[in-house]
Amino acid sequence: MKVLKTSNESIIYCKKILTQGGLVAFPTETVYGLGANAYDGNAVIKIFKAKQRPLFNPLIVHYAGFEDCFNDVKITKSAKILAKNFMPGALTIILERTDDSKISEICSNGLSSQAIRVPSNKTANKLLSSLSFPLAGPSANTSNMLSPTSHSHVVKSLANENITVLEDENACNLGLESTVVDARNNDFIYILRHGPISKEALLRVIDVKETNESKKNLSPGMQKKHYSPKKPLRINIESPQEDEAYICFGTYCKNKENHFPLSKINSLDEAGANLFKTLWQVDESPYKKIAISPIPKKGIGLAINDRILRASEK
Ligand code: TXA
Ligand code: MG
Repeated sequence: MKVLKTSNESIIYCKKILTQGGLVAFPTETVYGLGANAYDGNAVIKIFKAKQRPLFNPLIVHYAGFEDCFNDVKITKSAKILAKNFMPGALTIILERTDDSKISEICSNGLSSQAIRVPSNKTANKLLSSLSFPLAGPSANTSNMLSPTSHSHVVKSLANENITVLEDENACNLGLESTVVDARNNDFIYILRHGPISKEALLRVIDVKETNESKKNLSPGMQKKHYSPKKPLRINIESPQEDEAYICFGTYCKNKENHFPLSKINSLDEAGANLFKTLWQVDESPYKKIAISPIPKKGIGLAINDRILRASEK
């Protein structure tokens, strides 16, 4: 593992590693990604090995700009609307692969669909712009464990792997994985994973159809248990025990040693940005158990509730 501060030289170094088929953990505005050349199956396989990720769980492919994906996936009317409004940004769209798509089939495990994303983080964009291929990139953590929102989380999560980590102080200011939508229909979309781009924001520009269970299964990574700390975790707790680390929101936050506020000012944006950072913090604290206060189920609160529900599954 090699950690490099972001600079022109380190971008050139990462370009070399990626071009040779190696792995680079790169910052985005959501969580850190573990990147490999999406056109090179041998490189993509290394991601699955490093993360111990099951091969059936497909990967998002990251581009410098939306137009860069036009040869690899079939563009729909809804994809264009979404791109115009939310790209670059924390939105991932699922489209059909083109017949002559250069993306390795390992990225989508032989599915006919492919997830694509254009991150807005400056370092990510600089790196992607320097390459002649897009980057396959799941979150840069061991499968099912907590998502990484800083380079130090990546170092802890994948310590023994042969990867280069790009350190970026401005990384992961949103702190939650991108919203994933199925945009294969021209006139409407399905939300497959809630994230920083809320349903309300999507509804302002496009019709969002209700996602039923069979649609959710389209996204093989939506397992019940996911995003888990090592310690047992309870959610929707109004009165925590003294020996629990209490991750709290708004008025549930008291000036007590075991209280870890996500946002004292009732800001769901702030809570989203702090969620994984705080989970990492309490997982490393002396407390043996974790409790989380109720968090409003609206806007980004839907994404937060989705993550903590799956973190609480045994
Ligand atoms: O913010 C993010 O999305 C981060 C950064 C690095 O871009 N990436 C990320 O990747 O969270 P990952 O692999 O941890 O989560 C991607 C999710 C998985 O649940 C996966 O199952 C789903 O997207 N997905 C990927 N390709 C898909 C496809 N073709 N059809 C349905 N779901 C797909
Ligand atoms: Mg992940």
